[in-house]
Amino acid sequence: MNKAKKIIHRIGVSENPILQIVTRLLSWPVKFGQFQLLKINKDKEAVDLVQRIQRDGNSLMWPAEMIQLYFSVFATKKLPGDLAEVGVYAGRSARLIREVSPNKALHLFDTFEGLPKPTSMDNSTWHEHMLAIDLASVKKYLANYQNINFYLGTFPETAKPIEDRTFSFVHFDVDLHQSTLECLKFFYPRMVKRGIMISHDYSNLAGVKKAFDEFFKDKDESVIELSTSQCIVIKS
Ligand SMILES: C[S@@+](CC[C@H](N)C(=O)[O-])C[C@H]1O[C@@H](n2cnc3c(N)ncnc32)[C@H](O)[C@@H]1O
Repeated sequence: MNKAKKIIHRIGVSENPILQIVTRLLSWPVKFGQFQLLKINKDKEAVDLVQRIQRDGNSLMWPAEMIQLYFSVFATKKLPGDLAEVGVYAGRSARLIREVSPNKALHLFDTFEGLPKPTSMDNSTWHEHMLAIDLASVKKYLANYQNINFYLGTFPETAKPIEDRTFSFVHFDVDLHQSTLECLKFFYPRMVKRGIMISHDYSNLAGVKKAFDEFFKDKDESVIELSTSQCIVIKS
């Protein structure tokens, strides 16, 4: 990561309340601009939903990334298989997934105690327990939705109950190299044909990118980098 990118990232994920206000002020015009473009190009229903979720605050995704997530879930609606997300935090992306595909089982994984210990593969701005959040507040946020299962703890130690399930859609937003690798090892063999795996931060976190690139080196599928920070893989 180059120096400018590192400084922006450090400010963006800072737990300092003053820097958090600065981040919110600086990101407002970018979000506004993204919404104007999305309103021109995208379905009103999708943009309205993203706007409602963004208004709830505490979202760590840009509007353009949420729209990408929206249409990725949408593309898998006809497929059999459950939905999963690893890296839930305040539940904003989970709500989006649930709203787009309301009927399938949705499995949500997070420590809810923040990040596991980063390794040398990860960005130095991360530290253990960063992004901790109270599970009760996340459950409350998602209380009106059906068929959601929460798994508290470090993935994949928490994955035993879903070992026999198959998946049409999974979202990874775990920030770290080892966590991303564990997600890929677990979900790849359980994805149905044409199922979608999408990850946040592929292009801006070297550890995430490395995990994807190395995992798919000897697989048939290609990692598709998107115009946002995300990447997508469609199971062949
Ligand atoms: C960037 S946040 C997720 C943001 C969320 N998707 C959103 O849209 O607001 C990253 C989350 O990944 C979780 N996490 C990272 N590695 C994990 C692992 N191995 N097991 C469980 N949770 C993990 C952290 O606890 C943190 O809450």
